[in-house]
Amino acid sequence: MIYLDHNATTPLLPQVKETLKELFGEEYGNPSSPYHTGRRARDLLEESRHRLAELLGAKPSELIFTSGGSEGNNMVCELDLESSGLNYATLTAHKLGGPKGIGLLYIREGSPFSPLITGGGQERSLRAGTENVAMACAFAECFEWFCSNRSELESRWLGLRKKFLDSLEEVEHCFLLGTSDESLPNTLNLGFQGISAESLLICLDLDGIAVSSGSACSSGAMEASHVLLAMGYSHEQAKSSLRISMGWNTSEEDIEELSRQLIHHVRKFSLPHLALLIFFTAGMTGCGKSPELENYERCLELLNHERKEARKSQNYSYDSQRFLECRAPVQYGS
Ligand SMILES: Cc1ncc(COP(=O)(O)O)c(C=O)c1O
Repeated sequence: MIYLDHNATTPLLPQVKETLKELFGEEYGNPSSPYHTGRRARDLLEESRHRLAELLGAKPSELIFTSGGSEGNNMVCELDLESSGLNYATLTAHKLGGPKGIGLLYIREGSPFSPLITGGGQERSLRAGTENVAMACAFAECFEWFCSNRSELESRWLGLRKKFLDSLEEVEHCFLLGTSDESLPNTLNLGFQGISAESLLICLDLDGIAVSSGSACSSGAMEASHVLLAMGYSHEQAKSSLRISMGWNTSEEDIEELSRQLIHHVRKFSLPHLALLIFFTAGMTGCGKSPELENYERCLELLNHERKEARKSQNYSYDSQRFLECRAPVQYGS
């Protein structure tokens, strides 16, 4: 399995997995309890908050632990942010090699805030609920690891990204969404004119490669990303966008394999265009079936087979059929 969707979530860093195993087993105390197990849990929690505060350049009192990005966003979305400076920020551990279900909300000292979850007096009464000590420690650990390895990771990602883009140079109809300079170093958003991202995503999935499409999935249908549309891309361009995001464990071999498979699929999907032209020309001049048309038909058979397999093994709405139908030579001939 080659995982290239680290912007959705990341696999746990091995050392974080070990920390979690140990803490979930041993450190079960409630930080509000006065006896030794509770005090020890409190120390671990506060130590994690201090480590995170130092890395973020914030005061420990400005950070509260949450269940993740969504909760933090909900806590502050009703408030007006001051125009200068950042008053609030949300962080989530699962994008950084940490576990899902733990996040941080930064509230700049003096900024207005009213709690969303009330009950006990945890987190200075700003967020009720027994604190998840093991997860807070895991968050501090993954964040620390990312901060100390950031420059090495970034240069590795930039190198891999360049290598990948170079390998696609020969591929026709391939375009970049956004610019390399302005994108996150681990992220690449690519489009392939006339090919839907969904089709490529499914083909790559069948190869054991996980990438994301720039399309949002709503009511089972793939929709063009509103972000890409707001950036000025057309519906067709936005729907053809594939998002490739690398992470701490992405290797050169992963990127080489992605490049190999992607080029293979793009060429396969592009073939009908050529066949179509030749068929149309052949029709106009009264020639018989060309080898290119035979090739197109073989390609159609192959895609239909893949579609059926995809449907059997996974519950996808595979649209390569639609893709092919709307480009079938007969439509042009008639
Ligand atoms: C931009 C953004 N906001 C919010 C979230 C939600 O974070 P969480 O899954 O920790 O609730 C995510 C991640 O999934 C995200 O990418």
